[in-house]
Amino acid sequence: MNSIFKNPKIDPTAINRLHPVANDNNPQLYIETYGCQMNVNDSEVVISLMQKNGYSYTEDINKADVILVNTCSIRDNAEQRVWGRLQQFKALKKKKKNLLVGVIGCMAERLKEKLLEEDKLVDIVIGPDAYRDLPNLVKEAELGNQGINVLLSREETYAEISPVRLDKNGVSAFVSIMRGCNNMCSYCVVPYTRGGERSRDAKSILDEVQELIDNNYKEVTLLGQNVDSYNWVDPKNEKHKTTFADLLEQVAKLSPTLRVRFATSHPKDMNDDVLHVMAMYSNICNSIHLPAQSGSSAMLEKMNRGYDREWYLGRIAAIKKILPDCAISTDIIAGFCGETEEDHKQTLSLMEEVGYDMAFMFKYSERPNTKAARKFTDDVSEEEKTRRLNEIIDLQNKISAECKSNDIGQTFEVLVEGVSKRSEDDLFGRTSQNKVVVFPRMNYNIGDYVFVKIVSNTSATLIGEIAE
Ligand code: SAH
Ligand code: SF4
Ligand code: F3S
Repeated sequence: MNSIFKNPKIDPTAINRLHPVANDNNPQLYIETYGCQMNVNDSEVVISLMQKNGYSYTEDINKADVILVNTCSIRDNAEQRVWGRLQQFKALKKKKKNLLVGVIGCMAERLKEKLLEEDKLVDIVIGPDAYRDLPNLVKEAELGNQGINVLLSREETYAEISPVRLDKNGVSAFVSIMRGCNNMCSYCVVPYTRGGERSRDAKSILDEVQELIDNNYKEVTLLGQNVDSYNWVDPKNEKHKTTFADLLEQVAKLSPTLRVRFATSHPKDMNDDVLHVMAMYSNICNSIHLPAQSGSSAMLEKMNRGYDREWYLGRIAAIKKILPDCAISTDIIAGFCGETEEDHKQTLSLMEEVGYDMAFMFKYSERPNTKAARKFTDDVSEEEKTRRLNEIIDLQNKISAECKSNDIGQTFEVLVEGVSKRSEDDLFGRTSQNKVVVFPRMNYNIGDYVFVKIVSNTSATLIGEIAE
């Protein structure tokens, strides 16, 4: 059973015309990106803006005239890593006199002028809604003036800017459909660093996806902090509204050979309309990231998540009923303020009950000025957080291993993303459920769809053979 979508046209080494254009005669821009997929996509927007202003992107930090670090504030350790990198860049600045360093993204928004306090560390600070001002501030910095713009916006979505793609394979791309967040989960810094929620013009999203299709991309991931609350109201006709379910359907219809993914879903807003659209279109991937955060209703209330354990389990039951083959993943926070052993046990039991295919698991990290920092005490000790997190990780490893062994013997359609790191003779790609599969290369190319039968697995990967 070979796939009908085999695409022999794609040369795996070919450079796509949406990728950065190298030009050694221009000043060189280097970007390092931390944090979530939205930050990755924002870096692509930033490169696009800078390329239009005469800068060329380089992957070689030693060639850089401008270093930008796109930062994350979600947990303290994310920020500490950036402070460490800034000290390393300072050493580079000593060697190269005109080298400029800019901090952009969530840490720029959270810390503002504080980032400019240490002499010769940072020249430019720009928050997530001010990237259009970046070329100006870089010019100012070239004249020796520090530049800062951390204004948040109610409207900015960078709607008409075509991101310069940083993916390596020309197969999958991120498309931001909204910015900011209105949810105010009590532990979370995002509403402060990214501002209020706003949806991007649906037409500009469809145009961007069409451009990707025209350039042979095979997969898009629609991004937002809470995609389920996407709601575009046409300013010319306020009766014309586009919900997330509508948008998902419109994107899926653009091409049957384009895979459509999205993240992140919010349990309080994910409705059955979205699930039914997923069931209707085979090119919308069977994978939902539905962060629970905790299995205890008392903790969920304190986290201001807007749902309790029963509601969450009701959403899981809807997914399992409407989309029986759908993989489900989650985020879990261990040791939130006041979390008791009983609350922690409820998180473990929720994980078993749902049977997550994958989870991102974190220790609670207090973020200054959030509601949790102002109102609650971070009273679970570091040792206890570590113990609980380790229990959560051990349990998830066990559940993930069970999920993988259930896949053995089954055949999946895999979108080829690249050559395996371990062997030139193998390719790797993902199933609709977002699981990585390694299988023999044969004559297949990056960008092909291949039916693969799973024969075994390692802890992270499924191993398959071409299905006959
Ligand atoms: N908008 C998404 C997730 C954004 S942040 C959502 O609501 O699900 C990604 C994850 O980081 C969160 O789901 C949460 O699990 C984790 N996180 C956020 N703030 C945190 C904090 N203060 N400490 C530890 N983990 C945190
Ligand atoms: Fe943070 Fe909650 Fe918004 Fe997610 S939904 S970004 S966790 S405030
Ligand atoms: Fe981090 Fe900002 Fe994303 S805080 S997780 S980079 S929205």
